[in-house]
Amino acid sequence: MSARKIIIDTDPGQDDAVAILLALASPEEIDVLGITAVAGNVPLALTSKNARIVCELAGKPETKVYEGCDRPMGRELVTAEHVHGKTGLNGPVLPDPVIQIEDQHAVDFIIDTLRTHETGTVTLCPLGPLTNIGTAFEKAPDIIEKVQEIVLMGGAYFEVGNITPAAEFNIYVDPQAADIVFKSGVPIVVMPLDVTHKALVTTPRNDAFRNIGSKVGVAVAEMTDFFERFDKEKYGSDGAPLHDPCVTAYLIQPELFSGRHINVEIETQSELTMGMTVADWWHVTDRKPNAMFMGDLDADGFFSLLAERLSRL
Ligand code: RIB
Ligand code: CA
Repeated sequence: MSARKIIIDTDPGQDDAVAILLALASPEEIDVLGITAVAGNVPLALTSKNARIVCELAGKPETKVYEGCDRPMGRELVTAEHVHGKTGLNGPVLPDPVIQIEDQHAVDFIIDTLRTHETGTVTLCPLGPLTNIGTAFEKAPDIIEKVQEIVLMGGAYFEVGNITPAAEFNIYVDPQAADIVFKSGVPIVVMPLDVTHKALVTTPRNDAFRNIGSKVGVAVAEMTDFFERFDKEKYGSDGAPLHDPCVTAYLIQPELFSGRHINVEIETQSELTMGMTVADWWHVTDRKPNAMFMGDLDADGFFSLLAERLSRL
C-alpha cells in the first residue's frame, strides 16, 4: 500500500513534536507533503521555529515548513506557556533551526496542495487550533470536497475541558474555525482528551524513550519530563498525556484506537461553554453523525509503536 499523503498542521508543543517525529520516522506509511505552523501553544513565531527544530532533530532538514495564521479567526489568541514552557519546547536543549520558512503562506500551501493533487488523496492532520484549516476552507471552498480525511487532536466529552471546565485547548482557541471544519462534511477522525488522557507517559515508558539512547530518544524523554508537570499537578496522573501522537499513530496502526461515529458540534456562542465539543455519544438526538470520535486505545501497543519508530531516527 502506498504511503498516505498528509499535511501536518501544528503548534509545537512537546506533544506535537513527538507526533511529527513519529510521522517522519514512518515513510512507508506516511508521506509528509509539508508542515504548516499555527499560533496556539505559543505564538506563531515560536511554533514555526519549533516545527523546524523538530524536523532537524529528526534528521529531515528537507521537510518544508510553512507559517500560517498568527491569531484565531474571530478571537484573541490564547496560549499555553503554563503547560509547554516559554519556548513551547521546554525540556531538551536543542539548536536553533537552520531550515528556512517557505515563502508561501500555509493557508495558500494547503489550498494549492489540495487543488494540485487528485481528489481524495491528501489527509489533513491538525494538531493545534484549526485556524489554518478553517481559513483555507473559507478562502477556497472548492478544496473541501478534495480532502481525503481530517485526523485531528481536539475536543473532549467524558474528560470535559483542560483549558476551561467545558473546552479542550485546540477547539477553545479557535471555535469558529472548528465549527467550519466540523460542518464541512469532510470525513473526520477525532482524538479527544477522552482517548489522549489514556496515553500517559509513565516512568517506565519514558525510560524506554531515554534508553533508545539516541539524540531523539533522549530529547523526547526530556520533553515529556517537562510537559508532564501540568497534568500531574492537575489530574494527579502518573505521566504526561501524549495527545498529538495519537493522530500520527492512527495513520500507522488505526486498530490501536476505538470509538463511535457520532454527531459533534461546536459551541460558538456562550462564553461559559465556548469551544465545547458537544458530542452525541449516546445518540440522544437525530443530528447527523459527522465524526469518528475516539474513546479508547491500546496504550501498550501505542507506546511500543512509538518507541520502535523513534529508534529509527
Ligand atoms: O489540549 C491538548 C492540545 O492542545 C494538544 O494538541 C497540545 O499540543 C495543545 O495544542
Ligand atoms: Ca498541539
